[in-house]
Amino acid sequence: MSLQTLLGTDLPLIQAPMAGVQDSALALAVCRAGGLGSLPCAMLDATALQREVTALRAGTDRPWNLNFFCHRDPPPPDAAAQQKWLDALAPYYRELGLDLTEARTAGPSRAPFSHAVADRLEGVRPPVVSFHFGLPEPDLLARVKRWGSVVLSSATTVDEALWLEAHGADVIIAQGLEAGGHRGHFLDGDVSTQMGTFALLPQVVRAVRCPVVAAGGIADAAGVAAARALGAAGVQVGTAYLLCPEARISVVHRRALCSDAARHTALTAVFSGRPARGIVNRLMRELGLLNSAALPFPLAGAAVAPLRTKAESLGSGDFSPLWCGQNAGTCSERPAGEVTLALAEAWRRDALAP
Ligand SMILES: Cc1cc2nc3c(=O)[nH]c(=O)nc-3n(C[C@H](O)[C@H](O)[C@H](O)COP(=O)(O)O)c2cc1C
Repeated sequence: MSLQTLLGTDLPLIQAPMAGVQDSALALAVCRAGGLGSLPCAMLDATALQREVTALRAGTDRPWNLNFFCHRDPPPPDAAAQQKWLDALAPYYRELGLDLTEARTAGPSRAPFSHAVADRLEGVRPPVVSFHFGLPEPDLLARVKRWGSVVLSSATTVDEALWLEAHGADVIIAQGLEAGGHRGHFLDGDVSTQMGTFALLPQVVRAVRCPVVAAGGIADAAGVAAARALGAAGVQVGTAYLLCPEARISVVHRRALCSDAARHTALTAVFSGRPARGIVNRLMRELGLLNSAALPFPLAGAAVAPLRTKAESLGSGDFSPLWCGQNAGTCSERPAGEVTLALAEAWRRDALAP
């Protein structure tokens, strides 16, 4: 069965869910163009989730995707670990005139998918649900499956792809090292196990039977055609949508994306506690990319948040996570529907051929 048939879309093109930089507006624009629009839910509280899901249901009769993180909550860090992280950030608090006691409680958190969230979605029955960082516990996943939702999850290695298929994923997203945002790895935290998209993709395609979607560094029709040639059933694209008018990126993120700075991205754990790819900025340069003092995901972010807020109010992105893939060169301010159709050209040409 083709990916389009499985998802119920016209195009085998998924707009990557991107927490913190988009809401239902971007997802709707992509759905209307025939792709699969995604709503990132990891940072939404109950009210926001309901509002955004209502907007999706009202805005289109085409399928859409709800995306959740499914990390396991880490044990509360001990006082020494907390202090170590605060010590690393203390000079920046002093520089920006902030009170270090704010660091303990402030900031956004990312909650894993839970039975409480599933309760809220019981009547919604989302057409597609995608997960990052593996899959939820079997009983929770079974609830999602009973809704009839198609289940997607990201694999960053062949082992993860095999695990996801064995544990119930219907579609595997092969997330290459080029991808912007958080690495979806969940079996092995060693980033040296991670591969670029066009090394990972054909190996995953050979290893599993379910459809494989390529993600990471794909930003134009030629990239889509290359993924297709390597066996992808479709593509998931994030960074190429970041400058669309329907996205909600911050002023500092937009400025960085439009500048030469976007040519230098790296993996860093300093913003959340897990490796994620973003445009290199001051905090990444000065603390080191994978600083061992950073608290485990998602706790590191709370102490960085006040720095980010203050710096952004002064027009600086020095302390902001500027998530971005390695191929931001084609980012443009075109409407998301146009970006979707341009990306899907390789598939559309075939569909239109006599
Ligand atoms: C700004 C940004 C935020 C992201 N947030 C999420 C997220 O909330 N959930 C998720 O599954 N993936 C997230 N990702 C990763 C994407 O799913 C996908 O792997 C990536 O965008 C593909 O690479 P590309 O950005 O080079 O197109 C994010 C990516 C970016 C750029």
